[in-house]
Amino acid sequence: MKRRAIVAANWKMNGGLELVKTMTTGLNNLDLAENVDVIICPSAPYLSAFEHDKLGKSIHLGAQNVSEHQKGAFTGEISTTMLQELSVEFVIIGHSERRSIFAESSKQAALKVKAALAAGITPILCIGESESERVEEQTEAVLSAQLQPVIDEIGIEKFNEIVIAYEPVWAIGTGKTASPEMAQATHCFIRQFLAKANSEIANKVPLLYGGSVNAANCEKLFAQADIDGGLIGGASLKVDEFKIICSAAKGT
Ligand code: 13P
Repeated sequence: MKRRAIVAANWKMNGGLELVKTMTTGLNNLDLAENVDVIICPSAPYLSAFEHDKLGKSIHLGAQNVSEHQKGAFTGEISTTMLQELSVEFVIIGHSERRSIFAESSKQAALKVKAALAAGITPILCIGESESERVEEQTEAVLSAQLQPVIDEIGIEKFNEIVIAYEPVWAIGTGKTASPEMAQATHCFIRQFLAKANSEIANKVPLLYGGSVNAANCEKLFAQADIDGGLIGGASLKVDEFKIICSAAKGT
């Protein structure tokens, strides 16, 4: 099964105009394999400053969050229409920091996925288990419970248009990466879970790994059969390191 590889940068609440500038210059001569897409997700105020359209068709702009509501009295929220106006093509939804710090539920994530799809913006749906859930062997139950509301909301056919990022919470920002074997086993489970609803679509969905990916570990992670790239936090703020990670991605 041919799948494009994706490397997405989640800057979280970091960086500013200076980073936008250095990243734009740095990605100008990026050495990318065929079938690889790079997505930069800066903080919302910088979306319009990132001139991704000058960097070639493999570099895309992504947002870190979006409202499930169309418009109205939702102070501080950003709508899909606003993202459309800024040529945003992707949006991260259900990141573990949104789930744990801002109490977003899987149902809310499902509604956001639906809103993004309706606006023609590709959702990057994040799922992942906590350390205690992993220790208690609840990983598969947790991932299933995070995926099912999205399947119920949009239908499995729409998974043709989304990207899934598996980010074990215990690996985010901790330097504790899942081993390539552990990450592969979990990605394989995610694909099998989706295959119960539709095996053809399950085979096509890009599955990204996130959690302490860096220049030293990316190659082995990206070499796994069911890992189609990465969602990168800390290492995506360092231009040279991020470029190494992008160059390690290989589409199949
Ligand atoms: P780190 O790469 O800093 O662990 O962050 C991963 C992440 O949360 C990306 O969304």
